[in-house]
Amino acid sequence: MTGSNEDSALLGGIYNSKKKTRTFTWRLLLEVGLVVAIVLAFLCPWKPATGGATSPKVDVNKKKNVIFLVTDGMGPQSVGLARSFRQFRDGLPIDDILTIDKHFIGTSRTRSNNSFVTDSAAGATAFACGLKSYNGAIGVDPEKNPCGTILEALKLQGYMTGLVVTTRLTDATPACFSAHVDYRYQEDMIAQQQIGEYPLGRMVDLMIGGGGCHYNGNCRADGRNLVKEYSDTWNHVSTREEFDLLNEGHNVTLPLLALLSDGELPYEIDRSPKHFPSLAEEAKVALNALAEATKDSDKGFFLMIESSHIDFFGHQNDPAGQAREVLHYDTVFQEVMKFIDSTDVETVAISTSDHETGGLALSRQVSPAYPDYLWYPEVLLNSTHSGEFLAHLLFDYYQSQSSDDTPALTSYITKQVVENLMGITDWTQTDIDRIMTNIMNVNELMYVLNDMISVRAQLGWSTHGHSAIDVNIYAYTNSPAIEEQLKHNGAYDGLSGNHENIEIGRFMESLTGVNLDHVSLLLKKTNHKPEVVKSDFNVNSYHVY
Ligand SMILES: *[C@@H]1O[C@H](CO)[C@@H](O)[C@H](O)[C@H]1NC(C)=O
Ligand SMILES: *[C@@H]1O[C@H](CO)[C@@H](O)[C@H](O)[C@H]1NC(C)=O
Ligand SMILES: *[C@@H]1O[C@H](CO)[C@@H](O)[C@H](O)[C@H]1NC(C)=O
Ligand SMILES: [Zn+2]
Repeated sequence: MTGSNEDSALLGGIYNSKKKTRTFTWRLLLEVGLVVAIVLAFLCPWKPATGGATSPKVDVNKKKNVIFLVTDGMGPQSVGLARSFRQFRDGLPIDDILTIDKHFIGTSRTRSNNSFVTDSAAGATAFACGLKSYNGAIGVDPEKNPCGTILEALKLQGYMTGLVVTTRLTDATPACFSAHVDYRYQEDMIAQQQIGEYPLGRMVDLMIGGGGCHYNGNCRADGRNLVKEYSDTWNHVSTREEFDLLNEGHNVTLPLLALLSDGELPYEIDRSPKHFPSLAEEAKVALNALAEATKDSDKGFFLMIESSHIDFFGHQNDPAGQAREVLHYDTVFQEVMKFIDSTDVETVAISTSDHETGGLALSRQVSPAYPDYLWYPEVLLNSTHSGEFLAHLLFDYYQSQSSDDTPALTSYITKQVVENLMGITDWTQTDIDRIMTNIMNVNELMYVLNDMISVRAQLGWSTHGHSAIDVNIYAYTNSPAIEEQLKHNGAYDGLSGNHENIEIGRFMESLTGVNLDHVSLLLKKTNHKPEVVKSDFNVNSYHVY
């Protein structure tokens, strides 16, 4: 950005790299400046810095809905995996692609403040606050100052807000939009802030996901039951039956706290529809509920939807689970598009990933001989459950058996699990030995089962952690002005081409005319330090399954 462009950008409230002020005088000046800046922001709504004298301008004051979708851990390879899997499974032609493929607009670079390989906390802080922080940071900058998020900024403008996930609502991605703590493991404190216990009060109107134990006290260090304490404010839903009474979002009283599990919601490949809704069903409830709640307002809503478990399958190196999870995400995106097509309110959906997980490769050399150019989707199709599910099944069976009944155990492993559930008929004695060796360790056992699938499918993985590859950006809108703006490719001006992850957060900021840095000033008194400092916390490897 050039000098004069930067000046006009500052007036309109897009990315502003001003130095941190330290002395009292400076703080006073800053507060006076804040008032001036707010007035100026109203007088001079944001305009694109470059291009388009003829392009329609986005009117920041027009009623809008902003839907931000995060596919945690989904790299371009995972999209290719799911696309080929589906072509094989359904006998589709070469040009049959996913819905998201049709709405690809650019790519995002993902490094964090302290590493070329980000974690989900720094990744989502980049989206929420528009700044690079350190791995593990939840809505705080590199110096651990709480930073204003797009969700908070829009709520303060009168938007309604929501978070929909399949992981714990206190996990990194949703937390970064709605809480400010030094380390992602402070999930008890994250739940408190999401409920409203911090300087801004309650900023979220709807939450659907897992992680119930951090709210109901089942896993809180202080044993508090926030659900009970706040039952006058928050409407609580916890079962499939209660979820169904929400009637696809047409029977919702906000604020809504739908805690559908104490921990994770089930993976799509393992999910029993009788007991749990899918992410697409959750998203539908959220979209309809927020649309109805804002129908008489001059402000729309902000909704963050996370497909959380693509990342888990990357960590676990589970291609059978991941293919299904990505395909389900494609139907979530379709659900969002359907909503956008049906509303008169100017609405934009932006979909991206915080990072890739697993270092997936869509081919693998499995012998010293020069490899054939192929991989086998049939192997993924034959397996009916996640490796995690199967490992628990095996472990539980082992625990329930008397130790000397080896033939029964061997038969259970080969017939019931490997042949019937995994669909592997060419198993070897080496496979069975590896399973037996690891039968007491569910995590290692899961890796063994997933590797049996990956090797046969000829798919490679380079890590159980994250990787630094650029990830894709997708978008959809019913607004010609926003469509035009998305097509720009400058830093802080559009999302086509290759972008830094923080530019995505700043793009949502500029579309809506809010100023994240102003919100940061309101957060200074936030309690964000951990009560218990975890000495073994490694910012570059921390992950909870
Ligand atoms: C990380 O943040 C610190 C503190 O703001 C800054 O001095 C440093 O340059 C940043 N590092 C990178 C690589 O961005
Ligand atoms: C709406 O939800 C309430 C419970 O909150 C339930 O009693 C009622 O039957 C629901 N109505 C519909 C039409 O689903
Ligand atoms: C998939 O399962 C079918 C039916 O059990 C079996 O015939 C086939 O060999 C399996 N495919 C692979 C690649 O293991
Ligand atoms: Zn991860």
